[in-house]
Amino acid sequence: PLPTPFTTPLPIPQVKRPARVQGGVEYYTLAQQARDVEILPGVRTRIWGYDGTFPGPTFHLRQGRQAVVELRNELEVPTSMHLHGGVTPPESDGYPTDLVNPVGKKEYTYPMQQRAATLWYHDHRMDFTAPQVWRGLAGMCLVTDTEEENLGLPADKYDVPLLLTDRAFDEDGSFLYPSLHHGPGVEKEYANGVLGDVILVNGAPWPVLEVDATRYRFRIVNGSNARRYELALEPAADLVQIGSDAGLLDKPRKHPSLTVTPGERFDVVVDFHDCPVGTEITLTNRLDGPVMRFKVVRQGPKSAPVPDKLVDIEKLDNPVVTRTFDFRTTTKHHGARMWTINGELFDAAKSLADPKLGTVEKWRISSDFHHPVHLHLAHFQVLSRGAGGPDARDAGWKDTVDVRPYEVVEVLARFDGYRGRYMMHCHNLEHEDMAMMANFFVG
Ligand code: C2O
Ligand code: CU
Repeated sequence: PLPTPFTTPLPIPQVKRPARVQGGVEYYTLAQQARDVEILPGVRTRIWGYDGTFPGPTFHLRQGRQAVVELRNELEVPTSMHLHGGVTPPESDGYPTDLVNPVGKKEYTYPMQQRAATLWYHDHRMDFTAPQVWRGLAGMCLVTDTEEENLGLPADKYDVPLLLTDRAFDEDGSFLYPSLHHGPGVEKEYANGVLGDVILVNGAPWPVLEVDATRYRFRIVNGSNARRYELALEPAADLVQIGSDAGLLDKPRKHPSLTVTPGERFDVVVDFHDCPVGTEITLTNRLDGPVMRFKVVRQGPKSAPVPDKLVDIEKLDNPVVTRTFDFRTTTKHHGARMWTINGELFDAAKSLADPKLGTVEKWRISSDFHHPVHLHLAHFQVLSRGAGGPDARDAGWKDTVDVRPYEVVEVLARFDGYRGRYMMHCHNLEHEDMAMMANFFVG
């Protein structure tokens, strides 16, 4: 029972409010719950959602204001919550084996000593991240700061989160995911990653957003397990990028299309000022098909253009060491396809790097496939792709980088914030669950 595209209104996730604010600290409670919801017309889908919703509620956090989130697990499986892009102490980082067991709870502390950015949070349970995120354990977290507020960017109802996820459904409406029946992992024909045939934005299939004829800021998050998008507007118009994964850019950059891999965020402004009422603009994935539609339904306020200069970005330099990480598949382990980093399957007891707190390192990442490589804690800048410089889409502060097959990408990463055990991994969630993770230890 697939819906006609562009008939379901785009849902906007609830904004999460703190349960209390005390001593300048915001205290939140968040519950993981199963719910039956209508995603496709006429059928119910059992989701696992933060506060029983998919996506979970959107957190609005502020630089310098600590947030403490008490997570209660009301599901029947263990979970671990990771704030992706968060500069977070290790015990609150959602390490895959730091489990919150059913009926248990855990307090996650987010000091928020970080710049304005579009973050997201999602499940990170060892071996089961992919199926648990697929069932709905993902939400957005927008961090703001004074510097951003002074830019006069589109705000409030003109600042819209777009969480992109593809999903597959059974005839009865339940999510289809090719889990193995005993233990972790997917059926072997899905080892490259699981794709769904229904594109959901904020949990709704190919939705439509009625817009005013004015500027909008869209926080695009690729929350899909394995799907890549090359996003473009039809009829053609530029996507004006103002931010990347971990912060605003130094200046806006126009893109006719934007490739977005799992885990990445692109903060863009789209200007509907000159669109007559009735105009329809489709956001499409050039690699696959339509994603959603914008329909201009009324005049809007005249808004200020995006400033030519956004924020100062310190250019990272002087790496103290260069390390290499090779992301590659293997069949050496009982003949099953697994995914390795430097030839190794994830081992929680091992560390592949020991950066010193406060230093910059050059990490050279090579690959045999599409691997969106994500570092916890450390934000980085892309230095090069192959023999060339970074792509236009690589600008700014990143925490996830698209590494294409047989490509070498160099990044400069600064290990700031906290000492302790963190991880890097492929954000293709099937690869992640099939061991493409490694620890690094900030000392
Ligand atoms: Cu968004 Cu360790 O992941
Ligand atoms: Cu991968």
